Amino acid sequence: MPHTIAPLPAHRAGWAQSLATPVARALRHPWVESIVRLSAIEDSLQALHPLMSLTEVRARVVKVVNETALTKTFVLQPNALWAGAQAGQFVRVRQEIAGRRVERVYSLSSRPGARRIAFTVKRQSGGQVSNHLHDHLKVGDVLTLSQAMGEFVLPAATSNMLPAKMLLLSAGSGITPVMAMLRSLQAQSYLGDVAFVHICRAPDDLIFADALKDLAARWPTLRLVLHFDETEGRFTTDTLQHLVPDLHERSTWLCGPSGLMDAVHQLWIEQSIAAPLQSERFVAFTSLPATAPGTPVQVRFVTSQKGFTTQGSGPLLVQAEQAGLSPKHGCRIGICRSCQCVKASGTVENLQTGEVSSAPNELIRLCITAARSDVTLDL
Ligand SMILES: Cc1cc2nc3c(=O)[nH]c(=O)nc-3n(C[C@H](O)[C@H](O)[C@H](O)COP(=O)(O)OP(=O)(O)OC[C@H]3O[C@@H](n4cnc5c(N)ncnc54)[C@H](O)[C@@H]3O)c2cc1C
Ligand code: FES
Repeated sequence: MPHTIAPLPAHRAGWAQSLATPVARALRHPWVESIVRLSAIEDSLQALHPLMSLTEVRARVVKVVNETALTKTFVLQPNALWAGAQAGQFVRVRQEIAGRRVERVYSLSSRPGARRIAFTVKRQSGGQVSNHLHDHLKVGDVLTLSQAMGEFVLPAATSNMLPAKMLLLSAGSGITPVMAMLRSLQAQSYLGDVAFVHICRAPDDLIFADALKDLAARWPTLRLVLHFDETEGRFTTDTLQHLVPDLHERSTWLCGPSGLMDAVHQLWIEQSIAAPLQSERFVAFTSLPATAPGTPVQVRFVTSQKGFTTQGSGPLLVQAEQAGLSPKHGCRIGICRSCQCVKASGTVENLQTGEVSSAPNELIRLCITAARSDVTLDL
């Protein structure tokens, strides 16, 4: 459960945060680190104030916005260790649920550079973390986050690399990173041609409805197209080509459910569209090759001296969790590298590529790797 705190008076919080960064740098020096036990200092700082840390980004929830019946935005004030984000990046959010540490990643929906950051969560039926955040996270709670990460981004505002014509295409909760991109472009007074197409079931499901209205009012040249499946029928790539006839000329950023993503990628291939297409998935590829369950294999963690037995049919991360272990993780689909570790020995299958490898001491990602023999991991 997150901590609930009484806000620290502004002058004290400011003092604490401005001190944190240089002190953290000094304490991370190997010579100093060998004398001072960092974790003891961390514990004392956290007792003093939950936002204070020398190593971790912590952020206090300052506002919760009900975007739709199933979606909430959590607005956060991060501590001084927050290093900022590019439009489109995500953070790992850590939660303690039933005594176990779990992490999921959420795209930032706030404008990069804003004093406060925000992420927006859609409740997933049966989902562990999305439901926990919806039901328990409230104003005053403090969360631990990672720094921003991910390569689904717009070129930096300062780089002069923004294309003259862009298409931002999203569906459902895939709007979250795209919202950060729109906010970023608007804040830069971007003068190029932006078409933003968003698909959802009905007006009641439209996330950021008020913010979009506001954005459109302040940015008259933005071409904003909302497609509601319930009244306008299922969105297809024909719909897309009809709505955006100059698709071939637009650098495109895409985020949505797997069906839409696959169809748009297929369109790019079939029509040999040369304009760049960047996309981000929130869920694993649907076409993961299935590894046939085989003889039970032993997975051994050398450092922690833990282990478990698996049939080798699913990702090692899931198998380890089912065995009661809690390996570090984030996105669970192979992009954040939080679960990366060295496989000292054994044969594994990369579930995204189907590649089977027995090389010793290779880096693997537990969330997309299945064991095909006894495996030893440097964990
Ligand atoms: C780069 C990236 C950015 C993301 N950004 C956002 C964002 O901005 N907003 C957002 O809402 N989400 C985002 N996500 C998705 C988010 O990380 C979580 O995956 C999502 O919130 C679901 O997590 P959960 O813990 O609620 O569900 P989980 O517990 O992980 O379950 C996921 C789904 O699987 C089903 N499920 C769980 N266990 C089982 C089982 N044993 N058998 C069958 N089905 C099962 C659940 O019903 C649920 O529908 C992002 C993901 C990625 C990779
Ligand atoms: S959890 Fe993100 S790469 Fe495995």
